[in-house]
Amino acid sequence: MSPTDWFAPLLRPELAELTAYVPAPIPPGAIRLDANESPWALSAEARGSLAEALARVALHRYPDVRATALREAIAAGEGVHPDTLVLGCGSDEVIALVLNALSSPRAGAAHATVLFPTPTFVMYRHTALSLGMRPHGVPLDERFDLALDPLRAALRRHRPSVVFLASPNNPTGNLFSRDRLAAVLSDAPDTLVVLDEAYAAFSGERYGDLARAFPNAARLQTVSKVGLAALRVGWAILPPGVAAAFEKARQPYNLNALSQAAALHCLTALRPELDAAVQRIVAERARVDPLLRAIDGLDVHPTAANFWWIAVPDDAGRVSSAMRARGVVVRSFHAHGGALARRMRVTVGTPEENDAMLSALRASL
Ligand SMILES: Cc1ncc(COP(=O)(O)O)c(C=O)c1O
Repeated sequence: MSPTDWFAPLLRPELAELTAYVPAPIPPGAIRLDANESPWALSAEARGSLAEALARVALHRYPDVRATALREAIAAGEGVHPDTLVLGCGSDEVIALVLNALSSPRAGAAHATVLFPTPTFVMYRHTALSLGMRPHGVPLDERFDLALDPLRAALRRHRPSVVFLASPNNPTGNLFSRDRLAAVLSDAPDTLVVLDEAYAAFSGERYGDLARAFPNAARLQTVSKVGLAALRVGWAILPPGVAAAFEKARQPYNLNALSQAAALHCLTALRPELDAAVQRIVAERARVDPLLRAIDGLDVHPTAANFWWIAVPDDAGRVSSAMRARGVVVRSFHAHGGALARRMRVTVGTPEENDAMLSALRASL
């Protein structure tokens, strides 16, 4: 027996199925269009004012447990009560918090279950498994919209505690039809349906109206995609009462004081600069979209996000490796096999980056 064998029997068995998230190494100097980040850093002026805001943080004190100032600023922007928010270290942590709070199996069931369409954001499945819950994916329809009949059947069969619906969806980039989102919400009144708005800044579609209409709706939001991925700040807007229950499962100091102060400064004083960067990304998306579509053999799915979902004629693994060798890193889905073997996801970059991406892509097909 090796000195570390003691832990194997104690380990949650589901972890055997999982691999730790390790992004592929980025070659030095490469153009990074693989992670749906903003290509624009803050301006020097914005960094200066941010540095001043951070210099005022009392590092010798524990952070504000409730992130009061940030919470109030977000709540005011969304027109919701501050107590309906649960904040976390990126929406990844909020996903874990929501699942952890709802991980109790329904009466008579051995495990709590979680439902989502596929393909979608991988952390829904990963986190559910890591918490001992049972994830179930329901394939999207041929236009990557919600497949309502199979979803309804899965709701009846699995009785999930949580459903995740990202709209725009990652990696497909499209919005789901509003009437289908509403149908899931009304068909699953005793399930928390999380409408993930991570990419809403690029679609202009938000789901406050659905959240007001359905007491089982939650919205998930993040600053990561609008230029602040390094901050690790995200939150859920939950039905009144639900947030208070979930707060009990949150580590008191999950949002450190520097992240709180930085997010507050960025979402208030620096808001115009963040909004302008989003507009530049949307404009670039519009400029590059027809150029991508003009490339022979590509199938470019209509996108409402800050990335494209592209099918190449043969193997996305081969094409993405060839692009990487030309200095452009994109995200290939070839490892998923099946219909995804030809798919890759390409983030919108700066004009120069996008031009380099187009050349690398043309040369790699
Ligand atoms: C749909 C969706 N939700 C949530 C996240 C996680 O974002 P965060 O950086 O806030 O953890 C991502 C990140 O890629 C995403 O694509």
